[in-house]
Order: sequence, then structure tokens, then C-alpha cells
Amino acid sequence: MSPLKTSGFHHITMVSTDAPRTLAFYGTLLGLGMVKKTVNFDDPAAYHLYFGDDGGRPGTILTFFEWRHAQRGHWGVGGVHHLALGVATPEAQLKWKRRLTDAGIPVNGPIDRGYFKSMYFADPDGQVLEIATAGPGYAIDEPADALGRKLLVPSQERLPDARDEKAIAAATHPEPVPAITPDMRLQGIHHITAITDDLDRAGDFYESALGLSLVKKTYNQDDAVTKHYFWASYDGHTVEPHSSMTLFGWGKAQGRARQGAGQTHHIAFRAEDREQQAEWSDHLRSLGIEVTAVADRTYFESIYFESPDGLLVEIATDGPGFTVDEPIEQLGGALKLPAWLENRRPDIEGALVPLG
Ligand SMILES: [Fe+2]
Ligand SMILES: [Fe+2]
Repeated sequence: MSPLKTSGFHHITMVSTDAPRTLAFYGTLLGLGMVKKTVNFDDPAAYHLYFGDDGGRPGTILTFFEWRHAQRGHWGVGGVHHLALGVATPEAQLKWKRRLTDAGIPVNGPIDRGYFKSMYFADPDGQVLEIATAGPGYAIDEPADALGRKLLVPSQERLPDARDEKAIAAATHPEPVPAITPDMRLQGIHHITAITDDLDRAGDFYESALGLSLVKKTYNQDDAVTKHYFWASYDGHTVEPHSSMTLFGWGKAQGRARQGAGQTHHIAFRAEDREQQAEWSDHLRSLGIEVTAVADRTYFESIYFESPDGLLVEIATDGPGFTVDEPIEQLGGALKLPAWLENRRPDIEGALVPLG
């Protein structure tokens, strides 16, 4: 077990081929606030858009690199399968289904997973998204103070053959939902599901490198033979929100992820501050993991390394946050550049498509 424990996700970064379309989808349709409009500091010709809640609290942040010519990627071993966003209640989840389907977006679900209800759709680049209810949580089939100890076989009623697909497809909110009501507010990262071909090795990594703990060992309820393990920031009593990292355990012969549009570029976990991040670098190196030097991302500081499956993982500091260069009421309004790119602003702005 790690001497350091992350409290959960800081952000997830995905790949878009069309920043205005991504803004329309995540901002207008899903109602997420854009908390920063900037460029990729490693590639200033590309937008880097940040969305988040309450000024961009860690755990609620979704970011996008805009690579207009990126080829479509595909999920597989070493990649992220899907990102789940939280919603408070099943009723609000159905409102989302109505809003999305009325906008022409196919939705699969809600499906009762036991621990929460899940419904699935994709963003315009193909990134698989889920909206998952906050509860009832992981303690429905084992004690809250002993999560993740036993391999649990899902009951028959949870498996595809027992599902009433017609009823699932028909379930929706009875009225159109042209405006997002307060109860529908999306609550940030509910969980992130990635794919490994070695659950034991991947689990060792998330436990020893990041201090996450197993909170559920079960099977994928969509095929019943793939193992599906859940890790989270868990102190033996409480599972932190925005901290569930789940992995499908695929066989060795199944395909690897292909980076590209509609895929996750990397996932970032939280460090409290620079001092803790420095301890983390030392700790990761002591495990034989190659870690980058600290990169100043203006809104946080970052170190990067790879999971044994090849997924790019970051540890980002909580601070200083998105109000470091614009007031909270103006977040996301103007194109912000780090000081060392300001003298190139005319060229950078000229190369970017206006977001409208
Ligand atoms: Fe999920
Ligand atoms: Fe990042």
C-alpha cells in the first residue's frame, strides 16, 4: 500500500476534432461551465478547453485538446473505455435521457447496475459517456467497512438475458427538457472505466502508486465473463466522491487502445500541494516508475507517468486553480495564455477557429 493516498480524480483530458462542437455539446447541451479557454501549452496551435463545476473544482474537470485532424481512436487495453458523470437521482437521469434523445443523441439505458443506474451515449467525437446516479453505492452487497474483499457474482436479474430491453428503451421523462433544471446538475466525474489485460498488475499499480483501494470485485454485467474491479479513495468506511477508477479485465488476445479523436488522452489524480507532489515523485521513482519533471500548467502543477498498461497518468496539484488569471464570474470568457506565450498571441489567435 502506498504511503501517499490521492483523494481522487483531478481531471480527465479527452481529444476533440472540433472545439466549437465540443463547446456546444458539453457547455450548451450538458450544461457544464467552461472554466478556461486556453491552448495546449505543449502545442499552442491547439485549443485546450476546460469544463467544470463551481469554478472548476478538482474531480469535476473535463478538458479537451482540439486536434482538428486527429484520426478516430478506439478503446482497448491501455485506454479508457468510458467516463461517467454523476447525477443526483434516477428521475434527473431520465430528464437527461429525454433532453439527449430530443437532441438526436441515442441513449442506452438507464440500466440498473445495483450500485447505481447507468445510461450511455457518446459525444460528437465518439467518446463514450455515461450518466450514473449517485447511489445507492457500493455497500448494497457487502458491508461498507469491508468493501472489495470478495469476488461477487452479479445476480441473474442484472445480466443481459434478464433485462427488459423494451422497457429500458421506453423509459424516459414524459415532457421535453429544453432547459437544465437544478436537480439535473451534473456532479463531475462519477467514475472512469479503463481496460487492462492484467487486473492484478494494474491493481498493484493503482494501489501502490496512488494509494487507491479495492472497493468492488465483480463481473461486467454486460457479458458476465469479463472481470470488473473498482478502486477508489476509501478509508475503510467512506468512498470519496470523484475517486472511482474501474477496470475491465480483458484477455491477452484482445486489442490495444488506439489514441485519437473520441478517446481519453490522460487521467489526472489529485495531490494536495507541491510538497506532496514532490513526495509523490520520490515515491513513484522508488517503485521504479519513470516520472516527468514538474510541468507548470498555470492552474495546477503536473507530473506524468504511465500505468503498466500504457495509460498516461498525471498527478496535478489542487491549486492554484482557475481564478489565478481571471475572476470567477469571467471564467472561460477570454482566451488565456501563459506569460511565455503572450508575445505570440496574435499568431495563436489567428490560427484558432473562434468559438462563437
Ligand atoms: Fe460505467
Ligand atoms: Fe492533464
